[in-house]
Amino acid sequence: MSNIRPIERLGRRFERAVRKSGTANGKNRHAGGIDALGARVDAMEKELREARVARYTLELLFGEQDGRKLRMPTKGSIDTLVEQVEAATGERDARAHVVAAFRTLVEVELRGVGRIAGGTPNILGKLTVPLLLGPPNDDVLEIGTLFGMFSSALTRQFARAGRRCSLTIVDPLADVQLQPGTANTADPSGTPVSEAVVRANLELAGVPAERIRLHRGFSGDPGIRRAVSDRPYGTVIVDGDHSAEGVRADLEWVEEIVAPGGLVVVDDYGDRTWPGVKEAADAYLAGDTAFELVGVASTSAFLRRR
Ligand SMILES: C[S@@+](CC[C@H](N)C(=O)[O-])C[C@H]1O[C@@H](n2cnc3c(N)ncnc32)[C@H](O)[C@@H]1O
Repeated sequence: MSNIRPIERLGRRFERAVRKSGTANGKNRHAGGIDALGARVDAMEKELREARVARYTLELLFGEQDGRKLRMPTKGSIDTLVEQVEAATGERDARAHVVAAFRTLVEVELRGVGRIAGGTPNILGKLTVPLLLGPPNDDVLEIGTLFGMFSSALTRQFARAGRRCSLTIVDPLADVQLQPGTANTADPSGTPVSEAVVRANLELAGVPAERIRLHRGFSGDPGIRRAVSDRPYGTVIVDGDHSAEGVRADLEWVEEIVAPGGLVVVDDYGDRTWPGVKEAADAYLAGDTAFELVGVASTSAFLRRR
């Protein structure tokens, strides 16, 4: 509607101007020009009405709904992200990689159930930076998966580079997202956080079952740690318990199981909703650790194990 108003206003002003304009011998002196202008305004109105329909269709597909965030980024937000990705990775032109990641995000979310958590630039950063930094192997560990859709999308990104990743996922899958100090209410998407949903999303994204290990439980659980600590991981996503204590505990553990040269994505780093994430990561990096901060893109920090 807001697109139409200026045109309607223009039309009304135009009619007023016509009424006011002088007449000679009962005929308007500017009749020819006025008719041409009127036809142009009508054409513009029609074009805007059609554009509104197209825009609404795009909003149905990519708009904020079902608990999903808007997937219609501005050019400015993509430009900023491209610069951040280039700074974090040393890639001279990261735009094509970011665009490819956007297509992956949209495709995986449209096909899957539930949502990928977070805003578009942050997800694109997490989908772009790890591969550009070149993880030393294709074993990926995700701590905190929610609906399994980010892992699905990351697998697609690995495939773009001709790599086939194997996923290990840890999450309590407790019907809702669990976060210390929050209400743990049902997800706005209406989809339960369950093993069936995670497996459905991985299946819908085409991740072969033999490349998935799903551990239901908390990352601090000794049994889970024993089962997961059987290999050095090339990439680890820390996106589970977002409290400072939870992030610190995850980083301590992850430092033991990430491969030399391996990458760690600390999600929601600097996100004001989760102040504990940056607090814990900064404190950890300031201590005696083999991790170094490689860069930050949107609200994800990327660490590398020396
Ligand atoms: C922010 S969501 C993960 C989002 C997902 N990585 C994505 O990108 O869509 C956090 C998930 O971690 C789970 N979680 C909370 N504490 C955890 C813990 N200690 N270990 C593993 N997962 C945990 C939550 O229940 C939730 O499913």
